[in-house]
Order: sequence, then structure tokens, then C-alpha cells
Amino acid sequence: MGLQAKSMHGVWVSRWTFILAATGSAVGLGNMWKFPYVAGSFGGGAFVFVYLLCVFLIGVPVMMAEVLIGRSGRQSPINAMRHAVTVSGAAQHWRCVGWLGVTAGLIILSFYAVIAGWALDYVVQMARGNLIGADGEVAAGLFAELTNNPLRLIVWQTAFLALCMVVVVRGVRKGVGTAVEILMPLLFVMLLGMLVFAVFKGDFSAAWQFLFRFDASSLTWRAILEAMGLAFFTLSIGMGAIMAYGAYMPANASIGQTVLVVALFDSLVAIISGLIIFSIVFATPGIEPSAGPGLMFISLPVAFGNMPGGLLVGAVFFILVVIAAWSSAISLLEPAVAWLMEAQNYSRLKANVVLVAAVWVLGLGTVLSFNVGRDATIAGFTFFDALDFLTANIILPLGGLAISLFTGFAMRKAIIEEQIPELKGAWMTAWRAVLCYVAPFAITCIFVMGIYDKFFL
Ligand code: PHE
Repeated sequence: MGLQAKSMHGVWVSRWTFILAATGSAVGLGNMWKFPYVAGSFGGGAFVFVYLLCVFLIGVPVMMAEVLIGRSGRQSPINAMRHAVTVSGAAQHWRCVGWLGVTAGLIILSFYAVIAGWALDYVVQMARGNLIGADGEVAAGLFAELTNNPLRLIVWQTAFLALCMVVVVRGVRKGVGTAVEILMPLLFVMLLGMLVFAVFKGDFSAAWQFLFRFDASSLTWRAILEAMGLAFFTLSIGMGAIMAYGAYMPANASIGQTVLVVALFDSLVAIISGLIIFSIVFATPGIEPSAGPGLMFISLPVAFGNMPGGLLVGAVFFILVVIAAWSSAISLLEPAVAWLMEAQNYSRLKANVVLVAAVWVLGLGTVLSFNVGRDATIAGFTFFDALDFLTANIILPLGGLAISLFTGFAMRKAIIEEQIPELKGAWMTAWRAVLCYVAPFAITCIFVMGIYDKFFL
């Protein structure tokens, strides 16, 4: 077997399409919905600092490794890992990284589609003016009305999954490539528009203070685990989405530079979203920054409902969230679709239908965990909390750990040199040192302490 495989799915038109697709995958509900409320719950500044450290010190090197494995194998993560393991003559058990990742992607997609469905519902609510003049209680009531209604949740979850399928069915170039080329510029323009609105109409300096004031006392191990899990989640690493996209990356594009651009965009969007949300929240009396998952769906709509022109801005905001979620969700589906096509000879359409049906059924668990199944908990977790914690805080960091160790110790050097010839001398040494020692040590340490803190303290 040669070192460089060929792709049966096609290759992106240019390096830019890869950047847009990877940024599209990275920028999503994790940045716009999760980052602000988790940062809010864990006290702001210090949490954000650890989050950024995790993104650049651990996230970027691991993401490079993922793209490298993907591009060298030119197939779904499962087969790209198999290719890397075979060509390197490494132990077969490394192949479970691909399996774990593809499975994690489908699990994430199952709850992701439900939350994205909320955003779809809110586009309609905003446009209809349901929240004009609403106070916290009214907004909480409207949110509860949505989450208490399984049927309404299922309708939106189905609509969102259909949106994903429409793109993925059309293939790598025509489907995913074209979608991100349209959606991502739109997303950036809308985000900047929202930022301008927040600067002029919101309390920007309070938001800035909140996100950047360093208060070390809020840094528990639990908070650090959340920051690391969130860094993995928002970068889409540790589970193969980026590996799948790397498989379609043109051979001559520099992996290091490209990944750095994606990580920069991703953290920029998280911070800008935080600034937008907190500027608006702080400008409205009586709303807490630590409002939890409802921050975007309760606190923010109240603020929108009480501002001149706020409803239009609110509708635009939720469209923005849907676009961000959409371009991420397609990267959760593509790895499994690619695998079914390779391994079972399925057509793209058949692979999509089978997988989306399975994800839809699993998603019903999340739908019900907000209403009739609210009290069905294990260790204090609802079904949704459990899937969220299991994927973001356990599977993704462990996937990242395995990818680091594999690339650092087990992968044949010739593959690495072939894929990143531009990484020379001290840079190469530093990158390998991160993969072999820094990332594994940091991930293990944070993981063990965070789990201990969460369950035993
Ligand atoms: N990165 C996406 C977000 O921030 C979520 C995601 C995770 C997408 C893992 C793909 C893979 O919302």
C-alpha cells in the first residue's frame, strides 16, 4: 500500500473551501449557545482564559494530527485510521479511534438537532412578535411551552435533520462545499452586524469586563474540565469530523497554517458571540449572566423584545444560530455517510436515509428529556445531559488523547513528513512534544481531576 491513498468522494476545490468547511464545522451551537452560558456559569474571565489555552495549546496540535491522518487516508475516519495503522505497521487497537469518533458524531447529532430545532422555532417566534415587551417570566413561559411540547420539538428536530440531509446527499463538492461557500460568508456578515448592534445598543463594557476579568477563585477542576471539553467540542476535534474533512483537502495546502486559521476563526466567533449576548443581557435589568442553557432562549429574547427594532434583530440572530448549527451538523453526518458508502457500498442517498433515521430515533430521547422524561435521571443527569457530558467531556478528550499518542508515537514518520513538509526543525520538535507529552499529560490530568470533582466532591 502506498503512503498516500486516493479519495472516492472527491476533493475540495481549494484550500479555502476546506477552511470554510472546517470553520463551518467548528463554529456552531458550541460557540454561540454553549460557550456563553458555560462561561457565564463558571464565572467568566478565568474560564475563558483556560478555554483559549486549551484551544491553542492542545486543540491546534491535535487538529493538525486529525487533518493529517484524514488527508493521508483520503477516506472516512474509520478507514483513514485503518490506512494510517496499516501503513505505520502499528497495533490494530488504534483503529477504535475511528469507530468511537463516528459513533460520537452520530450521538452528538442526535441532541444537536433538537437544540438547533429550538433556534428554528425562535426564528418564527421572533418574526411573529411573540416576545414584544416580554419580561423574564413571560419569556421563561414561552420557552417552557416549547420544551414541554414533544410534538413541536420533534417537528423542528425533523426539519433540521432534513436540512442536513439535503446538503450531505449532494456530495462533497456540490453539497457540503457549495453550502459552506454560501453560508459562512453570510454568517460572518450577520455576526459583525450583530456586534455593531451590541456595541451601540448594549452594555459592551460590562460584557468585556465579564469575559476578560481574571478571577482565579472561580477555577475549580470541574470548571477546567468543562473548559477543555468545550474547547474540543467547539473545535470539532477528537471524533473524526475534521479527519473526514481533511480527507478532502487538496494535497498542496499547508496543514499547520490552515488549522491555525480555523482555530482563530472559531475562538473569535465564540468570543464575539459572548460579547454580543452579554452586552444585550447586561443592558437589560434583572437578568443573570449565569442563566444556563436558557441564556440564549430566555434572557436574550427578553432583551430583544424590549429594544426598539429588537424583534428584527432577534429574528436575524436566530437565523444566524441556525446557519452556524447547520454547517456543523453536516460535519457530524458526513463521516458516517462516507463510511457506509465505502464499507457497505451504499449510495449516498441510502446512507443518508439510514443514518438520519437512526439519529432521529435517538434524538427522541433528548426531546423527551425536556418534558415527560425530565425526572428520569442517572447520577443527576437527564438523557440529554448524559449524552452531552459523555460526548464533550469524555469521548472527545479521550479521542483527542488517542489521536495525540497515535500520531506522536505510533505513526510512521514518513507519512508525517509527506503531509506536513513545511513543519521543520524546532516547530516539528515542538509539535511532536505536544502530541507525545504535553497534550496527553494535560488531558489525563484535567480529565481525572474534573471527573473526581464532578462526581466525588
Ligand atoms: N463544533 C461544533 C460546535 O461548536 C460541534 C461539533 C462537535 C461539530 C464535533 C462537529 C464535531 O457547535
